[in-house]
Amino acid sequence: MRPVRLMKVFVTRRIPPEGRAALARAADCEVEEWDSDEPIPDKELERGMTGAHGLLCLLSDRVDKRLLDTAGANLKVISTLSVGVDHLALDEIKKRGIRVGYTPDVLTDATAELAVSLLLSTCRRLPEAIEEVKNGGWTSWNPMWMCGYGLSQSTVGIIGLGRIGQAIARRLKPFGVQRFLYTGRQPRPQEAAEFQAEFVSMPQLAVESDFVVVSCSLTPATKGLCNKDFFQQMKTTAVFVNISRGDVVNQDDLYQALASGRIAAAGLDVTTPEPLPTDHPLLTLKNCVILPHIGSATHRTRNTMSLLAANNLLAGLRGEPMPSELKL
Ligand code: NDP
Ligand code: DGY
Repeated sequence: MRPVRLMKVFVTRRIPPEGRAALARAADCEVEEWDSDEPIPDKELERGMTGAHGLLCLLSDRVDKRLLDTAGANLKVISTLSVGVDHLALDEIKKRGIRVGYTPDVLTDATAELAVSLLLSTCRRLPEAIEEVKNGGWTSWNPMWMCGYGLSQSTVGIIGLGRIGQAIARRLKPFGVQRFLYTGRQPRPQEAAEFQAEFVSMPQLAVESDFVVVSCSLTPATKGLCNKDFFQQMKTTAVFVNISRGDVVNQDDLYQALASGRIAAAGLDVTTPEPLPTDHPLLTLKNCVILPHIGSATHRTRNTMSLLAANNLLAGLRGEPMPSELKL
């Protein structure tokens, strides 16, 4: 009998159990995993990738031309444990005929839920208020103290009315939002109809929104999209929320806008870099709430993402349709 040639799979982190188990069951693959909760060092990634047929990676692994060259011609599939694909050099990947799997939809609800939590925490100043209880700043019930901004009768502007943008709007609507605006590359009348959302330009969205929520993908066109000009057009009472990627925002400009009172507050689930250094100026601001990129972090969602990522990888390696393949 001819020996069966196993396909080599490299996994760049310890992943949730369902995905791990699916890979372990794959009799046609030899799976090597960076068995750690910490990021893989570059050297180990290069070593593991060399000669691999399949890669299961995270959004924190930068898959660039150099790494693809290192991997060599065996590499047929890249499966990322994320819906965002900005860490992948898609042009290079396409040139090499490599298939890409990703994890849309299964994390939409968890991420939208987190976005709403972040928005409410930011506009109603929850972290600041909790701190005041602990540090003795709460001296009496004071009519003027700890006031924030509410959603009722507000205008919410969404940058990127995609899967997550729509799921956020759906959750915000029952809070009494009066008007939804959105922007993107083109109008999406079908999706917008549910919220009677109006397609507007970036400047109009900045000028008219009480809340700005960023839920677009990071591309060359969206890098630095929210900059000084944008913040200057926003209302001084407006609240800015970003759950997309840190690079969509010019963080120096955001810092200036927050520190000078140009805008009221910001809530960020994503920053540049990640993790944000603990001495970063944004962390000195009371009107900035920062979370450590936990949009999809529920046990169920991460497990489902890991299973989908594993199934994408295995289907791609076997030449079958992937459950979620990125169109390149
Ligand atoms: P979708 O592809 O459904 O949505 C992406 C949106 O980006 C679309 O509405 C698209 O609008 C918009 N977009 C693309 N280019 C531009 C542009 N030039 N200007 C304005 N908008 C643009 O993806 P998802 O909703 O599933 O995910 C969105 C992003 O959220 C991911 O790419 C990821 O970066 C981030 N994310 C963050 C998470 C977290 O933990 N914080 C969790 C999950 C995702 P149009 O096509 O109309 O231009
Ligand atoms: C993604 O999937 O792109 C998120 O940032 C993490 O779930």
